[in-house]
Amino acid sequence: MTRIQIFPTLESLSHAAADLFSQIINKAVEARGRSMVALSGGSTPLALYRLLAKSPYSIDLPWRDVHFFWGDERCVAPEDTENSYHQAYEAWLNLVDIPERNIHRALGELGPEAAAKDYEFQLKGFAEAGFDWPRFDLVLLGLGSDGHTASLFPGSREDEDKAVIAVTANYQDRPANRVSLTPKVFNAARNIVFLAVGAEKAQALATTVSGPRDAVKYPAQRIKPTDGNLIWMIDQDASEFLPKQIEGFTIEGK
Ligand code: 6PG
Repeated sequence: MTRIQIFPTLESLSHAAADLFSQIINKAVEARGRSMVALSGGSTPLALYRLLAKSPYSIDLPWRDVHFFWGDERCVAPEDTENSYHQAYEAWLNLVDIPERNIHRALGELGPEAAAKDYEFQLKGFAEAGFDWPRFDLVLLGLGSDGHTASLFPGSREDEDKAVIAVTANYQDRPANRVSLTPKVFNAARNIVFLAVGAEKAQALATTVSGPRDAVKYPAQRIKPTDGNLIWMIDQDASEFLPKQIEGFTIEGK
């Protein structure tokens, strides 16, 4: 199932995303005793992270059974304000009852190649039968105005067979050296949720979901869960160029 949900503001979107997060986590913990989450960097999810640090989520969720990974990481020190783990930790993880051992960050400070190797090893420690990595209950992703997602940038290899890659790519003034999970890890997830807001995302968003397939140029097109749900939570501005109907999608809020 693929859904696009359009919200009037980032605030309303973040509240709905927090409720969805809560449902997915509870369901996973009930079914399997733990919940595996891959977070995204970028500015869009920060409002969601701040909400999850507060009541009712901070009190009601089974935090001790949730394991956090990142879909990608920027290769800077963990205390650097540009580090995605750092951003989530400060806004949220530090403020709820999560054991440190449940936080599995990519060690960006090692540099991309070594961090990718180490991260691959960490993922193997949580592998599910048939995989070399955990099957995530929830993957959060963002969208760049150039069509990138996580650190899968335009021009990168589409048929990557590794689980984690080392990347160097320039986008805005963000750190260029990164590590990223690859589509085969993302696509094994039970739920993938993209968060995208703002008019600068509108063209990339419309092309990603309804344009002709060109996944080299628009890496977000590589994200297609094999057997899970794909949900786009976006705001009005980002929805500007979306057609009213897209085959195979349910669109709510347009
Ligand atoms: C990062 C993310 C990147 C991000 C998008 C959207 O930079 O850490 O990997 O993929 O999610 O660039 O970022 P915004 O939410 O800031 O627009």
